[in-house]
Amino acid sequence: MKICVIGTGYVGLVAGTCLAEMGNNVICVDNNEQKIKELTHGKVPIYEPGLEELITSNTREGRLLFSTDLEPAVKNSLICFIAVGTPQGDDGSCDLQYVYKVAGSIARSMDDYKVIVNKSTVPVGTGEKVREHIKSITSREFDVVSNPEFLKQGAAVDDFLKPDRIIIGSDSQRATEIMREVYSPFLRTGNPIIIMDVKSAEMAKYAANSFLAAKISFINELANICEKIGADIEQVRTGMSTDKRIGSQFLFPGLGYGGSCFPKDVKALIKVAQDNYIPCSMLKAADEINYMQRNLFIDKILRHFNDDVNGKTFALWGLAFKPRTNDMREAPAITIIESLLARGAKIRAYDPKAMDEAKRIIKDRISYAINSYDAIEGADALILATEWNEFRRPDFDKLKKSLKKPVIFDGRNQYDPQRMQERGFDYICVGKPIQKVLLEV
Ligand SMILES: NC(=O)c1ccc[n+]([C@@H]2O[C@H](COP(=O)([O-])OP(=O)(O)OC[C@H]3O[C@@H](n4cnc5c(N)ncnc54)[C@H](O)[C@@H]3O)[C@@H](O)[C@H]2O)c1
Repeated sequence: MKICVIGTGYVGLVAGTCLAEMGNNVICVDNNEQKIKELTHGKVPIYEPGLEELITSNTREGRLLFSTDLEPAVKNSLICFIAVGTPQGDDGSCDLQYVYKVAGSIARSMDDYKVIVNKSTVPVGTGEKVREHIKSITSREFDVVSNPEFLKQGAAVDDFLKPDRIIIGSDSQRATEIMREVYSPFLRTGNPIIIMDVKSAEMAKYAANSFLAAKISFINELANICEKIGADIEQVRTGMSTDKRIGSQFLFPGLGYGGSCFPKDVKALIKVAQDNYIPCSMLKAADEINYMQRNLFIDKILRHFNDDVNGKTFALWGLAFKPRTNDMREAPAITIIESLLARGAKIRAYDPKAMDEAKRIIKDRISYAINSYDAIEGADALILATEWNEFRRPDFDKLKKSLKKPVIFDGRNQYDPQRMQERGFDYICVGKPIQKVLLEV
């Protein structure tokens, strides 16, 4: 099939590449010239496991092309995916300007029937508005379909190639059949393609993201209670999550959720509810707890240093909002960095994949280590903000020798507090009774 994907970001690039991998001819379009230039020369602008290899093989086979030129890409395709950003507007609502801009460009470029597939996360009713917008520009035949994306950054290729389910919101038999054909190679293990109306498909995406966000905020709230009353959230979590009705995923206490989706999608759904005079206390609580969680963690750091971190140096392990991605959008590490810098502290950071991204965002306001052990050399404490595998079993003797004092603030509960105490560390994590041991180095 001939497909174009407009918007070559985390979603568009993964979707376009995986669609090409299944034998389709795909043109990935973006208006960021630098990005397209790099991709054309084989340089992949994001880190996502397995993505680079697939891009290389599919471009070599001629099935995957990159372009800034939308018009020929649309003319040449039966299916046009819209995968541009839908960032948070000033009032928390979803900013749809990029979606409408692309919809207008598609309309002006169409010379034949097209299935226009909205993959961006958009509020209920957007599909209808996109359809009206396109209709006001062209008299050509077309259908607008909603196809929300559920990939997880860090496992995006795998998620796209083996989705739990595909949701298609469509009121056209013709478009539905085309979408079934596109996705059938991805559903060979029997996972379902679920056809529904456009509005329900749009809402299903917000529902899923908000539920997962609420799960994270729920366990964080419990963690804060556990910490005060002497229970251990990790034991509580195991006790809960072995119940099949609850499940273990997205139930890890820590610094809360970040990234480009959960924070903005929860806020956008709150705005939709408010605009419709519907109370939404669960959504608001998920959002509030998430931001409170970061501040509670920062408070623990400050309290440890008697509210004076001026001139102290902190080693920071992890900058990306989660492991296996270089994405730092809404990363808890940024909140920690800003808060400590504002109080006169210095930061020496290390992340396995997000160093370039951090340099672009934070610039030279912090220093950058060449590896995890370089970061801790002479630091007053270590802060762990992202649970990359390589931070899971560090050389604790080396840590103890390199840090000025053996102090670790672990925002991701990677180590056993008992063992850390035995090793002589002051170990402060989330949701566990605080065992304060101030040992001589
Ligand atoms: N990132 C995720 O994990 C994820 C998962 C599921 C859904 N989503 C949703 O998918 C959408 C895209 O997210 P993303 O993370 O890929 O965003 P992104 O910011 O990484 O990528 C968006 C791309 O669109 C391009 N673009 C913007 N306007 C354009 C135009 N007029 N013409 C051509 N290209 C244009 C930008 O240059 C950018 O490369 C959002 O709605 C998001 O909520 C994201």
